[in-house]
Amino acid sequence: LLAGAVAFAPVAGFAADLTIGFSQIGSESGWRAAETTVTKQQAEERGIDLKFADAQQKQENQIKAIRSFIAQGVDGILIAPVVATGWDEVLEEAKDADIPVVLMDRTVDAPDDLYLTAVTSDLVHEGNVAGQWLVDEVAGADCRVVELQGTTGSSPAIDRKTGFEQALEGHDNLEIVRSQTGDFTRSQGKVVMESFLKAEGGENICALYAHNDDMAVGAIQAIKEAGLKPGEDIKIVSIDAVPDAHLAIANGEMNATIELTPNMAGPALDAMEAYLADGTMPPKWIQTESKLYTAEDDNKAVYEMKKDLGY
Ligand code: AHR
Repeated sequence: LLAGAVAFAPVAGFAADLTIGFSQIGSESGWRAAETTVTKQQAEERGIDLKFADAQQKQENQIKAIRSFIAQGVDGILIAPVVATGWDEVLEEAKDADIPVVLMDRTVDAPDDLYLTAVTSDLVHEGNVAGQWLVDEVAGADCRVVELQGTTGSSPAIDRKTGFEQALEGHDNLEIVRSQTGDFTRSQGKVVMESFLKAEGGENICALYAHNDDMAVGAIQAIKEAGLKPGEDIKIVSIDAVPDAHLAIANGEMNATIELTPNMAGPALDAMEAYLADGTMPPKWIQTESKLYTAEDDNKAVYEMKKDLGY
């Protein structure tokens, strides 16, 4: 410390004039839109200059954006990684530049010393809760299940599938008869559900498990157009708990959803600011909650509460 200089004691959770890059996947779902909105709000409230890059669903765009953030000398980088693999090189570049990286909502298959922390839900658990809900719902009756998977190679698609299958183990009355990606979008959810309904045995589908609500909402449309009653003829369970899912449950057209908070940025920026202020190391995984909503909840009220939150 120079003679006469004022000692500055860094306070965890506070760091002035930070510039943070955020490589967002895109805008494939209502949940994703809400995460973007919340992240921008969180940055603004903290006086952070957020450099936002929308990768339009492409990993190569994310890698380019991250390299550009590194070249600009940002203080930290947030990444929502579209797929799980292929990150080692660019994460090493960030590490070499001493720029901390926080992962949001999806995990990567890379050594964990390449990032500061990951803020995610327990993605396997979400699939497990969905599967367990269905096991209980059908109560031993035979049930042919179709599955709409998320983006191929993404951690939620991989883990939500695993968790669901684990829950169904030992319940031979439940059989996953078709499983295909709908890329987490409403439009693909509808298209793929149409093909499930038209395929052999499509008239005997008992339940749909969708890896996110947007695909479920698209599928509801397809089910209605096929002259069937979603939520009754075909039970529907999915993940995210976006306002439209609460509305669909309130209307009896969907049966259950598992909540994923869009506020990944709050804990992510808390960890980033504390680290940048005084080197505080967060845990490697900051887990967000997963709450199950069913028709037993007041979904109309939750819809009203959530609908203006940026979804
Ligand atoms: O990674 C989180 C998932 O990505 C959400 O469940 C889905 O809606 C989004 O596209």
